[in-house]
Amino acid sequence: MGSDHAGLALKQLLVEQLEKGGHEVADLGTHDQTPVDYPDFGAAVGRAVAAGEAQLGVGVCGTGIGISIAANKVRGVRAAVVHDVSSARLARAHNDANVVCFGARLTGPVVATQALEAFLATGFEGGRHLRRIAKIDSLEEDD
Ligand code: RB5
Repeated sequence: MGSDHAGLALKQLLVEQLEKGGHEVADLGTHDQTPVDYPDFGAAVGRAVAAGEAQLGVGVCGTGIGISIAANKVRGVRAAVVHDVSSARLARAHNDANVVCFGARLTGPVVATQALEAFLATGFEGGRHLRRIAKIDSLEEDD
């Protein structure tokens, strides 16, 4: 889990939700309201997932956009901004997203918790989507 100051309150709520659900959570910050830069936390979440230290990652900033862009710069990360249960489910089922990002200024806590639940409960469908994920992976080889 990681957030900037704008995502802090929602991140704290999602940490509680995950811990209540029996998940082991690594909270990589930020830990207070002091303004910080979302790329630092997107990178930390992405690196934890890419290194295999976490199965899945969660990022929260004001819109979810900045932290997802930063996380996606880490090789092997597929971070998706989601706004509802459907986008959360499809990010796993079709895109095999390994990081989910929320915009605390755009998505309310009830929808965010339901979306996170859906993200965790959904598996990658594979099949035709495998080829597409492989093409995303191959973009990293072009670097
Ligand atoms: C911080 O003010 C805000 O820009 C950030 O949380 C995020 O929305 C960026 O994408």
